[in-house]
Amino acid sequence: MTATTTPATRRCSSRSGDPPRCLFAIRSLVRAPTVKSLALQTYAQDTDRQSNKDGPARLSTDPISYEYADGVLNDRIILVTGASDGIGKALAVHIAGLGAQVVLHGRNTKKLESVYDQITNLKDKPRPSIAVLDLATADSAAYSSLHNSIEQEFGRLDGLVHNAGILGQRLSIEQYDVADWQQVMHVNLTAPFVLTQALLPLLRQSPEPSIIFTSSGVGRVGKAFWGAYSVSKFGTEALSQILADENRHTPLRVNCINPGPVRTRMRLEAYPAEDRDALKRPEDIMATYVYLLGPDSQGVTGQSIDVQ
Ligand SMILES: NC(=O)c1ccc[n+]([C@@H]2O[C@H](COP(=O)([O-])OP(=O)(O)OC[C@H]3O[C@@H](n4cnc5c(N)ncnc54)[C@H](OP(=O)(O)O)[C@@H]3O)[C@@H](O)[C@H]2O)c1
Repeated sequence: MTATTTPATRRCSSRSGDPPRCLFAIRSLVRAPTVKSLALQTYAQDTDRQSNKDGPARLSTDPISYEYADGVLNDRIILVTGASDGIGKALAVHIAGLGAQVVLHGRNTKKLESVYDQITNLKDKPRPSIAVLDLATADSAAYSSLHNSIEQEFGRLDGLVHNAGILGQRLSIEQYDVADWQQVMHVNLTAPFVLTQALLPLLRQSPEPSIIFTSSGVGRVGKAFWGAYSVSKFGTEALSQILADENRHTPLRVNCINPGPVRTRMRLEAYPAEDRDALKRPEDIMATYVYLLGPDSQGVTGQSIDVQ
């Protein structure tokens, strides 16, 4: 398997005329990844959450009704995975409007360029960057390349939102295809783990770093026919809790968001017959993300928040 990194500025164009600041792009990744551990650390003891005397911080603010000013995310460098569509796209545009320097991650350059154009049309806001990386196929070289690009460009990362995800099959465990299971587990759970490892050194350069993982209602309660998606979201909750606990004495805060039912392509795939007009739009659930990425959630870590 080879990973060819291409200076993506050559491939990216922008309708607004200026070349987007693509960080890099990955081509020719053909098989399932052999991801090398980038930074293994051993946590020999004290992994029991009961032993965390501090415990997760209590929320003094209601994140759902959190109110914030225009420049609340000024100067924060924030990477959003799956920024090409759905919740990730709305989030990228929203936080750019609040002053964040956004790194738009996705696998589809054209779709990312369209989000790029939307952001560059905002008045007096930082120009975003584009990072193309397919979470299903990226190898360790690709993750390193992303790390290096952000390091060169910005020297640090203030926020990392693990939003990208896939639904997979809606079948019983008895019928579930093994390859599809592996794909869902890889994109939804293993890739965020590897991306976190790759970018932790840059998050540690930030005075107030924040990581957000994305869970689901079926990440807390197992339900028939939710298969690998549900299992991957249970794993996501665990990954978020473990990382929060391991970092409880560092500035890094790590939290999980369950968006609830939101009008996106994934929701349509899961519930094709429902009344879409009754659902919240991605734009309606932004407050909790802003709260967790901004200055008012300092010390809030290890939480799993239902946005609806
Ligand atoms: N919508 C809901 O009701 C709901 C409820 C609970 C939880 N969630 C969670 O919220 C998150 C966002 O969901 P959504 O509803 O916004 O879904 P969506 O509209 O389907 O968007 C998913 C995003 O993930 C990206 N993605 C998928 N596979 C990828 C890969 N291999 N590499 C890179 N990017 C990839 C997609 O890129 P492309 O544009 O290239 O496909 C897209 O940007 C997910 O984690 C989902 O599990 C959603």
